[in-house]
Formats: sequence, C-alpha cells, structure tokens
Amino acid sequence: MLAAVWGGVDSSVAAALVHKAIGDQLVSVFVDTGLLRKNEGTQVASAFRDHLHSELIVVDASDEYFSALKGVTEPEQKRKIVGEKFIRIFEAQAMHALAGQPKFLVQGTIYPDVVESSAPDRNKAEKIKTHHNVGGLPEDMQFELVEPLRYLFKDEVRAVGEALGLPESLVWRQPFPGPGLTVRCLGEVTRERVSRLRAADAILIEELSKEGLLRSSSSSTSLRSSSSSTAGRTESTTAGQSTSQAFVVLLPVRSVGVMGDQRTYQEAAAIRAVTTEDFMTADWARLPHDLLARVSSRIVNEVEGINRVVYDITSKPPATIEWE
Ligand code: XMP
Repeated sequence: MLAAVWGGVDSSVAAALVHKAIGDQLVSVFVDTGLLRKNEGTQVASAFRDHLHSELIVVDASDEYFSALKGVTEPEQKRKIVGEKFIRIFEAQAMHALAGQPKFLVQGTIYPDVVESSAPDRNKAEKIKTHHNVGGLPEDMQFELVEPLRYLFKDEVRAVGEALGLPESLVWRQPFPGPGLTVRCLGEVTRERVSRLRAADAILIEELSKEGLLRSSSSSTSLRSSSSSTAGRTESTTAGQSTSQAFVVLLPVRSVGVMGDQRTYQEAAAIRAVTTEDFMTADWARLPHDLLARVSSRIVNEVEGINRVVYDITSKPPATIEWE
C-alpha cells in the first residue's frame, strides 16, 4: 500500500494511522512538487523518518510540475493538472516500489474536502472548488483509494495524530492545500513567481510565529455547532489570538511604487489570515497593526518584485479561505 504525503497535517495523520495498522507494508511517497513553503520538504522528510519510523521515498518532481503549469491561469485547470500529475507520479513510484502491484493509495481527505468538492456521497452540496484530494484525480487511475479520515473534521484528525504520538509540530501545523502554492500564486505559476511568493510567505510566518500567533486553536468543543454557524463571528478575532491559517497570496497585478527615487512597477501581495474552528466558515483575523506594518515593510524591502502589500478583510462566506 502506498501513502501520498504532502506536508500537510491530514496526509501525515492518514499515513501514520495506516502505518500503525499494517506496519512496513506501507510505503509513503513524498512528492516534492516545488510548490511547498520554505523548508517544508526537509521538515516533512525528517518528521517521517524520525517519528514515524516509516519508509519515505522522496521524489523531486518540480521540473515536471512547472512545465505542466506553464501558461495556465485558470484555477480549476491548475488543480486538475496538479491532481493528474500527482497520480501519474504515484503510479510510476508504485511500479517501482511495490514491484508493479499498486493496489491501494492512502489519501488524507477529510470531511470538509468532501463537502466542498461535492463528492458523490454529498451530492446535494454545490461544488465550490475541486479539492485536490477528492475531485481532482483522474478517473482512469489504477489505485483504489483508502481515505481513513474522510468523515473526520480537522480537530478530530489532530486528536488522532496526537493519540498516535506524532510530533506537535506536525499535528498542529496549519493546513496547507494539496495543490500547494499553485492556488496562492494567482495567474501563471512560474518558478520565479513561486519563489517570490515563498519568500514573502516565510516573512509573514516568521513574524506571526515571533508573536505566538501561528498555532491553531486546540479547542474542539464547539466543532459541531460551529459548522452551522455563520461567518462574521468576532469572539475569536481579538488581537493576540492565534490565527488558524495565515499565508501570502501573490497577485498578478502590477502597480506603481517608488523605491529610493526610482519608479517601480511590480506585483502586489495579499496577506490572508483567518480564525476558524472547522474551516467551513472563517473570519478574517484582526492582526495587530504593528505586526502588519512590519510584515508589509519587510516584504517590500526584502522580496524582489513586490512593491505593494494588501490585507484581505473578507470572511468565509462569502469568500473562501484560499483565493483559488
Ligand atoms: P477554502 O479555500 O475552500 O479552504 O475555504 C478550506 C480549507 O481547505 C484547504 N484547501 C485544500 N486542502 N486540498 C486540500 O487538501 C485542496 O485542494 C484544498 N483547497 C483548499 C484550505 O487551505 C483551507 O484550510
């Protein structure tokens, strides 16, 4: 059996759970798409080897991803391409690692992914976006999917991770979408633009982390009621409270600026930071203004190609958490 590992909480917990059940019959494959956040690849690899003691095959597929994404700007098309590549790379690995007998593929699909992708068992739900680990996979793939977390919410997944003894840094990592930075790099996804985005994102994460505003809330008590609550809640958004998810989005919009006495005409970055309990609804985080000022100034000064930073103040709904 193969497990697909991305670096996110869900895929790691799913792999750990299956590893617990079948031990070394599980081979975990980590595809380095070139679309991860700074240092993420190394962190994932060491967490797997050191804590799970599970075999981990690392595949560098970044060239393949960037050439497949060349010229593509439409969000659903990007998602489909990432999903398709993902499964093809796994098939190739399976032939190799499992002597040509790929049967089962473990995926970290969780309940909100199923609901928002309008999967067959939720056919009343309107499709919002094709969550990569649900609807973005090709129909002719050779694997049977094993999705042990399919009916769990995020905090339940974290509880499972803790019970399995996974490190806190992994269990409490903020969620990261399967398609990676693709859906945060609006417009064309090129190596240059992704590395610009990654640098800006690392600054935001570093500054939030210094203030202790990065860790998700560990409260699981209001999970059920929160899924039917509306956005716009204010109780969890006071300054100084942790963000549930925070990241930078690179916009394909150029605007005029001035650096020294030089005119600049460069791209803009948006900061997205939300508080939520279940990721089905979310409120924008009321981050301290001083922190926002520091992040903005550092991004513009340290990241080549960005001369403007904006803050996203939209809740979900009507917006989604990711921009694509
Ligand atoms: P949205 O943007 O739909 O995101 O409000 C809700 C949560 O889901 C994450 N997300 C994804 N996770 N594959 C994933 O594994 C995906 O394709 C995907 N798209 C969004 C998003 O980061 C947020 O936590």
